[in-house]
Amino acid sequence: MSARDLAPVTTTDSSAPRAALDPPDLTPATAAPGPALEVLDLAAVLGGHVVLDGVSATAPTAAVTAVVGPNGSGKSTLLRTVVGALPPGRGAVRLAGEDLLAMGRRRRARELALVEQDSAADVSLDVLDVVLLGRTPHSSRWGGDSDADVALASDALARVGAADLAHRDVATLSGGERQRVHLARALAQQPGLLLLDEPTNHLDVAAQLAVLGLARSLAATGMTVLTALHDLDHALRFCDQVVVLQEGRVVAAGPPGAVLTAELVSAVYGVRARRATVDGRDLLLLDPA
Ligand SMILES: Nc1ncnc2c1ncn2[C@@H]1O[C@H](COP(=O)(O)OP(=O)(O)OP(=O)(O)O)[C@@H](O)[C@H]1O
Ligand SMILES: [Mg+2]
Repeated sequence: MSARDLAPVTTTDSSAPRAALDPPDLTPATAAPGPALEVLDLAAVLGGHVVLDGVSATAPTAAVTAVVGPNGSGKSTLLRTVVGALPPGRGAVRLAGEDLLAMGRRRRARELALVEQDSAADVSLDVLDVVLLGRTPHSSRWGGDSDADVALASDALARVGAADLAHRDVATLSGGERQRVHLARALAQQPGLLLLDEPTNHLDVAAQLAVLGLARSLAATGMTVLTALHDLDHALRFCDQVVVLQEGRVVAAGPPGAVLTAELVSAVYGVRARRATVDGRDLLLLDPA
């Protein structure tokens, strides 16, 4: 497997480095729009600490929304609360206007998928079987995997550049390989809402760009994507919206170019920040304060 295998890596110049990508796909969605996510006044208390404090945010249909903020600001807690893995202290989560937390587990598993920041060490299982777990909410209870399920799972592995891992034992994979497999499982689930918690944290630079390009492609087909990110340049380049968390509160939200100003980044992260434009692309130059 090479990073080049990850969809949708395409270059117009065959001599270009293999990490080069076309600009992000900004074409509007052509498929039926997926559900829009609304988080309303969400609070979470963990171990006696207020971790989310009145968080309200939206993730539009057919768009990639980033959640950024310092370590411990509540990004993972927000994603886990949205999927119902953590009970909220108060507040509501709506998907296309419907109360997500009141949905039955099986229905919810058809509507959304979360790829966690660090999956717990996997038990010994064939990679293809791990990806097929994504089909569980769609399968009949006694039916087993259909040929169509296997085809979908194989396609999902191919989309994350991991087709050649299909018959490896997942327990023997590297961190980046495992991260791709868990993303493939989420894709096989065919959710309308895809939540990604730092999907690039184990990936090499080429694979990071490819996964974010894949997120854009999924949004272009109507999926709602909400992703925690640390790399603010990635948020500027690949995301339509950004929500900035600080100590469990939303301090800014909107289009990344307008929100991630040098002033805001300096204030939230305690660094010296400057914005620069190179080849028409917005970048942040960061230094210790
Ligand atoms: N079970 C728990 N008990 C006590 N505190 C917790 C618990 N789970 C999380 N926290 C705390 O909640 C805060 C938010 O954690 P969270 O994992 O959501 O942060 P994050 O923004 O995802 O951080 P990172 O960038 O490091 O992934 C942290 O201070 C964390 O220590
Ligand atoms: Mg986290």
